[in-house]
Amino acid sequence: MATRIALVGAGGKMGCRITDNFVKGSYAVDYLEVSPKGLENLRTRGVQVSDADTALPDADVVILAVPDVLMGEIAGSVVPRMKAGALLMTLDPAAPLDGQVPARNDIGCVVAHPCHPSVFNWEPTEEAFRDFYGGISAKQPVVCALMYGTDAHYRLGEEISTAMYAPVSRVHRVTLEQMAMLEPALVETLTQTCMEAVKEGHDRLVAAGVPAEAVRDFVLGHLRIQIAVLFGEVNGTFSDAAYKISKRARSVVFQENWQRIFDLPDIREQVRDITTR
Ligand SMILES: NC(=O)c1ccc[n+]([C@@H]2O[C@H](COP(=O)([O-])OP(=O)(O)OC[C@H]3O[C@@H](n4cnc5c(N)ncnc54)[C@H](O)[C@@H]3O)[C@@H](O)[C@H]2O)c1
Repeated sequence: MATRIALVGAGGKMGCRITDNFVKGSYAVDYLEVSPKGLENLRTRGVQVSDADTALPDADVVILAVPDVLMGEIAGSVVPRMKAGALLMTLDPAAPLDGQVPARNDIGCVVAHPCHPSVFNWEPTEEAFRDFYGGISAKQPVVCALMYGTDAHYRLGEEISTAMYAPVSRVHRVTLEQMAMLEPALVETLTQTCMEAVKEGHDRLVAAGVPAEAVRDFVLGHLRIQIAVLFGEVNGTFSDAAYKISKRARSVVFQENWQRIFDLPDIREQVRDITTR
């Protein structure tokens, strides 16, 4: 019999991406949604919404694609209704690490997060390449963590992740704490903040009268070669002047102890901020 999945929040941003992949696959899926916008998103896809009271106790896998600020409340109502042996999945480590997902010793819980396609990902067509989120046409890796449960739960979690984030190039197994070091700490607290600062620098130059297209071309081209050099995609280095100036900028741009964002006590504060309304 096909694995039975209940997708909670099927009409949201992640829910819709996952729905688009599940409708092409062979799983038996119940799509659950409550908001008018989410219901409309599913209606335009021709997807029928199921009844939660019927779907949840029947499901082999329950996926919570719901807002992180509602995760505690929703998980608290969903988890007691799941059948013994079933698998709970969440898409982000914040709420699980913040203690918002109740534990049960007769089910499993796997957290699965997409890496998104790399800036160096290659696809044979421009259209396929321009799937920047992933989940449509561009290959992306995924990270998975077993929060609790058995190896069989973990393997099922990997299988479902590979289907919902398809096309998937590889799955990395990490711990829940390691996933939280990746997100929020590495890619939101650090890289998103740095990218926002870069965009603010871009906007400032445009406001100062530098031709907008020149600023955009200059910064986006430099970003790619800087990433390529730093991450070893090319065998090259920066100019002497570039190293000299980036060394000078360190103390201007960063606080001396900025790396504390990767310490668990700081990460616990980050995930608490994410799950608090
Ligand atoms: N948005 C992203 O790019 C992204 C990427 C990776 C992981 N995630 C994770 O995915 C999860 C969902 O995030 P999102 O951005 O898709 O949120 P979202 O707000 O876009 O969607 C959440 C959906 O859940 C629905 N919902 C709320 N309560 C419900 C209930 N009781 N029953 C059924 N449906 C309910 C809402 O109506 C909404 O449609 C979060 O854990 C987030 O961290 C998001």
